[in-house]
Amino acid sequence: MVETADWMRPQTGVEPVDLRTDLPHSARMYDYWLGGRTNFAPDRALGEMFEKQIPGIRAMARENRRFLGRAVRHLAAEGGIRQFLDIGTGIPTEGNTHEVAQAVAPDSRVVYVDNDPIVLAHARALMTGGREGGTAYIHADLREPGRILADPALAGTLDLDRPVGLTLVAVLMLLEDAEDPWGLVRELMDALAPGSYVAVTHPGADFDPEAMAGVAAMAAQGGMTLVPRTRDEVARFLGDWEPVEPGVVPVMGWRPDGEPPADPAAAYYWAGVARKRG
Ligand SMILES: C[S@@+](CC[C@H](N)C(=O)[O-])C[C@H]1O[C@@H](n2cnc3c(N)ncnc32)[C@H](O)[C@@H]1O
Repeated sequence: MVETADWMRPQTGVEPVDLRTDLPHSARMYDYWLGGRTNFAPDRALGEMFEKQIPGIRAMARENRRFLGRAVRHLAAEGGIRQFLDIGTGIPTEGNTHEVAQAVAPDSRVVYVDNDPIVLAHARALMTGGREGGTAYIHADLREPGRILADPALAGTLDLDRPVGLTLVAVLMLLEDAEDPWGLVRELMDALAPGSYVAVTHPGADFDPEAMAGVAAMAAQGGMTLVPRTRDEVARFLGDWEPVEPGVVPVMGWRPDGEPPADPAAAYYWAGVARKRG
């Protein structure tokens, strides 16, 4: 049975989109783990299979999301960043990038990019208009960095001659090695001005290799790519940019608010932030 909800009904000026609610989608599965309502039976079924393999997966998703908040706050407050490019935005939830950045500096501007039509449907409703700093949304694929960079909405919102905070939070694992995610990220980083930052999280292959291999296999059965990567493979995404302390570490250990966690490796994500020199 195909489910419907209020948020699925067309809004003025929004073309109909095919949400493919018959297949699991990463954005909706993640929403399910975060306790959101924008998910469907196939998303929940695969999400629960993952949870059997990794019982802490919901808490891990929350920790990943908390990192996004800490990283954006850090870049805005300590790095003076006023413009962000958030690729793999996800379904809007608590602590969206513009909310965090604009809480520090109301004139912050954010361009969101995602390739999932459900994120598009929500982004148009929730992230446009009326805010002092301004946001834009681009429906595009990380596999096409040139298209993202050339999109008029990007030039209309961000000044690429000035530093940008590029966030790639829990999205790179959705690309195969054969798609050269490192080259794609490099292309984006090369387009940014000195003083820019990149913030990355990525599910780690080296926390519980057997469990991660298990979820990767389940994802493949569900028609979804999920590639856990080692710390070294994740660190390679930061290239030769200067790592922000403490470097690439388990996500809970990256500049925690308050007391350091007893076991930072309890959430199986690597996290790191780096700054373009010059
Ligand atoms: C797990 S969610 C992460 C959301 C958010 N960044 C966070 O960490 O809270 C991954 C998001 O990346 C998007 N995504 C997956 N592959 C993508 C691609 N090739 N290009 C752009 N977005 C993609 C999905 O649609 C989804 O919204």
